Amino acid sequence: MNQSNPSAIDVSDLACGYGDNVVLKAITFSVASREILFIIGSSGCGKSTLLRCLIGLSAPFHGAVTYFGRNFTGSDPSERRDILKTFGVLYQGSALWSSMTVAENISLPLEVHTSLSQTDREAVVAYKLGEVGLADAAALYPSELSGGMKKRAALARALALDPVILFLDEPSEGLDPITSREIDQLIGQVRDTTQVTMVIVSHQLSSIYRLADRVLMLDQTTKGIIAEGPPAALAATSPDSRVRNFLNQDAAGADGKSSLAPAISSLP
Ligand SMILES: Nc1ncnc2c1ncn2[C@@H]1O[C@H](COP(=O)(O)OP(=O)(O)OP(=O)(O)O)[C@@H](O)[C@H]1O
Ligand SMILES: [Mg+2]
Repeated sequence: MNQSNPSAIDVSDLACGYGDNVVLKAITFSVASREILFIIGSSGCGKSTLLRCLIGLSAPFHGAVTYFGRNFTGSDPSERRDILKTFGVLYQGSALWSSMTVAENISLPLEVHTSLSQTDREAVVAYKLGEVGLADAAALYPSELSGGMKKRAALARALALDPVILFLDEPSEGLDPITSREIDQLIGQVRDTTQVTMVIVSHQLSSIYRLADRVLMLDQTTKGIIAEGPPAALAATSPDSRVRNFLNQDAAGADGKSSLAPAISSLP
């Protein structure tokens, strides 16, 4: 990408994993500003591992990640902190602090990364909770929340610092279809009301077809990207049957024969 109009994210020849275990290699892709990219693939293929590398929780074995033209992987600690402040992250499983109330969980990034007064922090927290429909849940602890409320709280925490890039790891995992759709609608609202760029890990076909501009499909065997493009186009024309099968499976599991791609792409 040229310097005057850089992508939001450029990933170049990235390899990542744990110890001697290379989970992914030769990963190269870009995400345009305001794009919603879904990372998909079977369980264990390395979706969360890739996310960890992108947000600096794990150091890559090889390669580079650039955000709006700023080199992240080679950054010094102060530049790295600057870039990290522009991220919002919803971790797989929500990862709320169990000993803190919902409000305290959302206030934490504000305490760590801003110099806002307590009154201002409380105002931001109240606003963010309102945005995700949890205005009445501020004083509850995570153990007192339903699955959908936990995801909403985790989304509010990810939005606390008005991120430029949102990373969401399985934002509707384990939710029933109606609650899952509500979370998708919230994510759609964030897309429509902010300038944010999103990288979302998910295997929920309904979410993919509702929200994704593009998907990136990872594969455990080749440890790489096996498809990249708009989901409906890949479902219809990918030469790779693994890609077509994944994107055409019947998410409801009802009759096992209908392709969801055309029907689901018109979901609200
Ligand atoms: N902390 C870790 N230490 C060592 N190996 C790990 C760690 N986390 C994940 N792995 C391994 O890395 C590989 C990819 O795991 P990862 O969690 O990235 O997959 P995933 O695609 O996110 O799966 P899922 O869809 O189940 O969330 C797996 O073989 C897993 O066992
Ligand atoms: Mg995962």
